[in-house]
Amino acid sequence: MNNSLFGESGIQITVFLVIIPILAGLLIAIVKTYAVYQRLKSRRKLLEFEKKVKHLSPQEVEQYEKRRKELEYHLPENQLSGNLAPSDEKGIISNINSIEELRVIPHKKSTFPQKYISPELSKLILYFLGFSVLWLLVGTTVGEYLGIKFVAPDTDHVSWLSFGRLRPVHTNLVFWGWSSFAMVGLSYYVIPRVSNIEVFNLKLGYYTLILMNLAVISGTVSLMAGINNGGGEYREYIWPVMALFAAGIVLSLYNFLKTVALRVTKEIYVSNWYIVAAMMYVIVILVVAYLPFWQHGLGETIIQGYYMHQGVGMWFMFLNLGLMYYFLPQQLNRPIYSYSLGILAFWTQILFYTLIGSHHFIFSAIPWWMQTVAIVASVGMVIPVVAGTTNFLLTFNGNWYQLKTSYTLPFYFISILFYFTGSMQGTVEAFRFTNLIWHFTDFTVAHSHMTMYGIITFMLWAFIYTLVPRLTGKEPPKFWVGIHFWLALIGLTFYIVSLMIGSTEKGLIWMAKKPFIEGVVTMAPYWLWRAIGGTMMWISHFVFAYNFYKMVNSEVEIKIPASPAEILQAKKELRNTEFSHPK
Ligand code: HEM
Ligand code: HEM
Repeated sequence: MNNSLFGESGIQITVFLVIIPILAGLLIAIVKTYAVYQRLKSRRKLLEFEKKVKHLSPQEVEQYEKRRKELEYHLPENQLSGNLAPSDEKGIISNINSIEELRVIPHKKSTFPQKYISPELSKLILYFLGFSVLWLLVGTTVGEYLGIKFVAPDTDHVSWLSFGRLRPVHTNLVFWGWSSFAMVGLSYYVIPRVSNIEVFNLKLGYYTLILMNLAVISGTVSLMAGINNGGGEYREYIWPVMALFAAGIVLSLYNFLKTVALRVTKEIYVSNWYIVAAMMYVIVILVVAYLPFWQHGLGETIIQGYYMHQGVGMWFMFLNLGLMYYFLPQQLNRPIYSYSLGILAFWTQILFYTLIGSHHFIFSAIPWWMQTVAIVASVGMVIPVVAGTTNFLLTFNGNWYQLKTSYTLPFYFISILFYFTGSMQGTVEAFRFTNLIWHFTDFTVAHSHMTMYGIITFMLWAFIYTLVPRLTGKEPPKFWVGIHFWLALIGLTFYIVSLMIGSTEKGLIWMAKKPFIEGVVTMAPYWLWRAIGGTMMWISHFVFAYNFYKMVNSEVEIKIPASPAEILQAKKELRNTEFSHPK
């Protein structure tokens, strides 16, 4: 059986896809370790240099001063160029023409004055991001507890903390809390920025913030109290709760549409296409999922499939892609590789993603042809995913060396790789053979975290680390950003690899019609590994929260001069004239 298993293309592709981010992680580890080694070497050299500098004799200082002055010498304007009449006492210039302006390069066009982000908007964005961090901590603390429950099921017997209630608390908090808050907050930066105007109405942003918070808080409490929407996954919040969330999104959508309409740029930059479309989609999805008319029998099942994958694909993925089209080029300081490829990915994602919902119910009672359409559309997803991945990786081209020193780019790189591997792994999971083994097992949980965590969460971290220092002028401690990255990545690898292996074994046990309990016993060590991986991810979120705090806190940093130049400068400022006027 095992041999024939590895002969299946779906399984082979999955193994290949899972290995890609692991290899990429190893590659980044090697590059980073080498950079650390180089830094240690330079630090040793610097120490030696500092020792030398301390013992410089007055003659040596004098010599350096002389040389510095020589190097700093600039020809006065009238000796080389400028508007003054040429005068050349030293005979350096010859054959001067009477050129008054440069002939080869055309005049630089005057551009619109850049309206940089106002402190008021900055504050709103930081509120959104602050709440997103809070909901990440709360939501994944619940996830961590759920992971522990798999290893120690009798941890508690309180109804409010039962697995059945806490599971949707976790999923809804990370969906409508963490991810959605961060996405809307970041959109408040991108939409006006690429439209080159101020945001239409700040107050609407605050209303959205309040409504979304009300939804998440009341939703969490009601779920824990056992009040829920029954049925479908990710729509466990009762309708009044979800209505609050939707109202918040409608207000910001109106705000964004007005901002885009009033833009002073000619084109609508591709980011805004994605962001505005994602906000329209999430409202459609919520309305379809909550209207009561078709919530019975098979219709309900089909709506559930539609809702789940439209939620992840047309809200989380679509909006994040829009943000990526803005933040990646900004971070690399170069334009996106291909604008047209971005538009191709946009339309093909709309075409295929909206048809794949029924792949959640392969072999169910819904019509066979509908399942086949969903599988075909899942394969069609190769087009937007490959277009997007290629576009992003080619934008990286020529700037790979920055991975070594940048603390944000590893987040971008890993999330782009997961975008490819997580989505393509989803495609093969929709195949009939693989779905037969995996559907009822923990494999889907591995896929969910590979995508919602590997893609969405890593992307959001990349964007937050890029943007917040620009808003506050404060960088996070690099060391702790590194710890955050590695704990999250290694933890996620443990999480998904263990669940994938365990659930494949479990699926095969079920297919061999062995007793159910055998599958549970087989999974036990894998659940332990998931709990270990989950704990690493969970700790990394507190490190992230600390880094976020360092980026936004208003304390003034005390900097102790370290380099020779800084020490010399400090000495000068203390009116010690020993260096500038050696005796
Ligand atoms: C090419 C793109 C993708 C395809 C073809 C795909 C395919 C699938 C399939 C077949 C399942 C259902 C497994 C089952 O129940 O048997 C699934 C579940 C899921 N996928 Fe994807 N996936 C894709 C991308 C994504 C992305 C980008 C995300 C998140 C951003 C995501 C999040 C999820 C989640 C959360 C579930 C679990 C749903 C549940 O609880 O049943 N997927 N996916
Ligand atoms: C400390 C980090 C995390 C841990 C330990 C964790 C743990 C868990 C656990 C134990 C489950 C229940 C699985 C089951 O029913 O078998 C779960 C479900 C889920 N979690 Fe997480 N999680 C974490 C972070 C996240 C994040 C950040 C996201 C999304 C942004 C996320 C999205 C999901 C989704 C979509 C499901 C439903 C899975 C499915 O039905 O396929 N998790 N998580």
